[in-house]
This record gives sequence, C-alpha cells and structure tokens, in this order.
Amino acid sequence: MILTRYTRIAVVMGGLSPEREVSLDSGTRVKDALVQGGYTAVTPVDMGRDIDVVLRDLRPEVVFNALHGAYGEDGRLPGLLDIIGIPYTGSGVTASAVAMDKILTKRVARTLGIPLAADMVVTAAPGLAAPMHYPFVFKDPLNGSSHGVFIVRDGTEWRDALTQSAGKRMLVEEYVKGREITVAVLGDAVLGDVEIVPAKEFYDYEAKYKDENTRYIPDPDYDPAMRDAMRRAALELHRTLGCRGATRSDFIVAPDRHIMLEINTHPGMTGHSLVPMAAAKRGIDYLGLIERLLAEALAA
Ligand SMILES: Nc1ncnc2c1ncn2[C@@H]1O[C@H](COP(=O)(O)OP(=O)(O)O)[C@@H](O)[C@H]1O
Ligand SMILES: [Mg+2]
Repeated sequence: MILTRYTRIAVVMGGLSPEREVSLDSGTRVKDALVQGGYTAVTPVDMGRDIDVVLRDLRPEVVFNALHGAYGEDGRLPGLLDIIGIPYTGSGVTASAVAMDKILTKRVARTLGIPLAADMVVTAAPGLAAPMHYPFVFKDPLNGSSHGVFIVRDGTEWRDALTQSAGKRMLVEEYVKGREITVAVLGDAVLGDVEIVPAKEFYDYEAKYKDENTRYIPDPDYDPAMRDAMRRAALELHRTLGCRGATRSDFIVAPDRHIMLEINTHPGMTGHSLVPMAAAKRGIDYLGLIERLLAEALAA
C-alpha cells in the first residue's frame, strides 16, 4: 500500500511504561507534524490495556509506534499488531525484544566483535558484596531513558542501588569515562552521529529530557577511525537483530577506545531527540523522517 494524505494512521503513544511521558511527547509531535503536513486521517491513541479493542474499532491502515519502554519498545505491541494484521513503523517482535534487554543485546554484540564495557550479571539482594571496584555502573537491563541506571561510587551508593533494585536481574558494568556519542541508522544506512554534552556529570533522565543546558552536536569531531568503526558496529547490530526503521546506538568514546552501550529500536521523536537531529543534518526534515518510516511500514 502507498502512503497518501488519506491513509488512516494511528499514532500509538503513552502507554504503561516509566517512559510514558517521553512517549507522549514523541507521539504528540509525530501527530502534529502529520496533521500540519496535510494528513487527514491521523488519530492519536494513548495505549491502555484495551489497545486491541481500540485498534480493532479504529481500523487504521498503519500504526506509528511512538511508544518507548515496556509494551511498545520490547516487541509486545508489534506482536499484537502482527496478530491483528496492521502494519507498523519500526522494528518487529524479535529485534525489539532482544534490543530491550541490554544483557542479551551485549551477548549478540559480543559475537560480532563490537567493543563493550566489561560486565557481569547479578541478582540484586541486600548485603551483596560490591561485584567490581568503584566506580561501576549498575543498571536494570530492561529499562531505558536512564531509569534504573546507577553510577556507584562507594558503599553507601551501592547499598542504596541494591535497595532500589532488590530482586531484579541487574547488569554490572565497568564505568567508562568519555564522550557520549550516538549513531543513528535509518533503513539500511547510517544517518550520522550526534554527541551529547550534558551540563551535569551524569547523563541522567533529567539531563536527557529536561535540561535546556544539555548540548547536542551533530557530526562531532573525533577520531575518524573510531567513527568508522562505530558506524559499522551500529549498522551491523541493526542488521543482525533484523531491525527496521530507525535505530540509535549509544557509545562512550574514551581517548583510547570506544564501547557500545546499547541499541534503541524505538528512538525518541521529541524536540530534543537525536534521530530527527541526525536526519536533519542529512536533509531529511521531521515530517520527511516520519513519512519514510510510514512508507517503509506500508511496503512491508
Ligand atoms: N558503562 C558505563 N560507563 C559510563 N557511563 C555509563 C555506562 N553505562 C551507562 N552509562 C551512562 O548512563 C546512561 C544511560 O545508559 P544506557 O546504557 O544508554 O541506558 P538507557 O539509555 O537505556 O537508560 C548513558 O547515556 C551514560 O551516561
Ligand atoms: Mg542509552
């Protein structure tokens, strides 16, 4: 099917994850851009537990998946849409589910020879001894937007992190100090890279989505050999997982090495978001990016 101004489009956003607010921001912008672009049949849908009934009633020809985190980004909405028979933007079930889990993602990335932070997996329990020298990173493998990511510098922070994540399977990583650079991939090509320069030391949820002082630098200046390796890694992981649409792979660039942190299969589409920024640098404006994603979904 071909995308036209009359295509019935549902923009699914919000949902049930801790990243609900970011998703509402992404989804609202997507919906507004489509309406302003002359699309006449765009419906915003805040996903609840009745999403199957809502979509069966609405009968959209395509869904724009603007969810982040659990249910949208982890393959569960894609699975439901596969069953109902509605095409959707972005990655399908398997790619989404694997990419949602940082432990599984790193296992795949490791087989591709992509450089990663040294890590181990533990179950958080009170009294557990610190598994690495301080500082280290302790993160919930299933969360995003820095929810559940702790930079642990001493025993007090370690006890605090354990308490907040009791009973969960957690990823422990060496802390790698460096610049934060993300590589955006669209379709089967690298769009470009963007550096994130936080005003605060830790690039946390506040800094990512709220702090006006965070700076974003498209096409940052760094070692070209590293840049090429990172671009190849982002594209290779995107392909190996079978991702579709846009993905964004996060890296830390230290003076002597780079490591990949994760791949995001449903990257943000907010005013601060990095994939739209990388696309703009390549001459693809925000509406153009959305249209590419929708057209790809309809062609599948
Ligand atoms: N191993 C690490 N070393 C240094 N900083 C890290 C490390 N892992 C995560 N961080 C910091 O935490 C942020 C979020 O981590 P990330 O793994 O990208 O998860 P998510 O973006 O899904 O929350 C990163 O952008 C980075 O600032
Ligand atoms: Mg990240």
